[in-house]
Amino acid sequence: GRRITIRDLHRAKERGERWPMLTSYEMYTAQIFDEAGIPVLLVGDSAANNVYAHPDTVPVTVDEMIPLARAVVRSTSRALVVCDLPFGSYQINPEQALATSIRIVKETGAQAVKLEGGQQAAESVRRIVDAGIAVMAHAGFTPQSVNALGGYRVQGRGEQAEDLIAAAEAFERAGAFALVLEMVTAEVAAEITKRLSIPVIGIGAGPYCDAQVLVWQDMAGMNAGDAARFVKAFGDLRAALTSATQDFADDVINGRFPTEEHAYH
Ligand code: KIV
Ligand code: NA
Repeated sequence: GRRITIRDLHRAKERGERWPMLTSYEMYTAQIFDEAGIPVLLVGDSAANNVYAHPDTVPVTVDEMIPLARAVVRSTSRALVVCDLPFGSYQINPEQALATSIRIVKETGAQAVKLEGGQQAAESVRRIVDAGIAVMAHAGFTPQSVNALGGYRVQGRGEQAEDLIAAAEAFERAGAFALVLEMVTAEVAAEITKRLSIPVIGIGAGPYCDAQVLVWQDMAGMNAGDAARFVKAFGDLRAALTSATQDFADDVINGRFPTEEHAYH
């Protein structure tokens, strides 16, 4: 088999076929999601919160993202792997955005990069795409701008709607192959999904997008904290891992593990 391409995703949009996307940051989840047929895996800068234990995505660096993306690429054979450009690695100008994108695709083998922004980021998308790199755009609530946006707030309400629609159309014109919409009203997300010919991937953007993404730890019930309204846990991995850990600890403490069957002679 070969990897999913951006053409496959565009064909899916033409046919009205919906698809799932998940984040992944290391080998086992990448293998499992790839084998389960998840067509697109995102090495998200949400690694900041979900791997590196930061409070938000602002601190994570390119040097921290690259080894994670490398591992996900090595662990998959079907999925299209997208790597986020972290905060500070592309906002200065389109040249910086291109230089960071080149470094990431060369050093990781990822098939695409993703960047956040509004209409002003379209120029950087165009620059990266012109160099031959596939770009996914991310608009609406853009976590790298959490402080400028005044917190985790739904985007696209009232007068903001026109700006968001304009940004989405600018990203498509600039050559983005797909667009993530995060924490956007269902009405505005539906309108953008209808207007764009590229796939629109929702997260907290209602039921009418072409595709849906979740952070894998949210999807699998690995998180301990309060989940956002848009999250659904499809498993209870935290409870399963806690139970296995307690069983292991009890068996060691009580001398039930290891036994003769685990011993070398
Ligand atoms: O980093 C991330 O996990 C993301 C998704 C929420 C789209 O950007
Ligand atoms: Na991200």
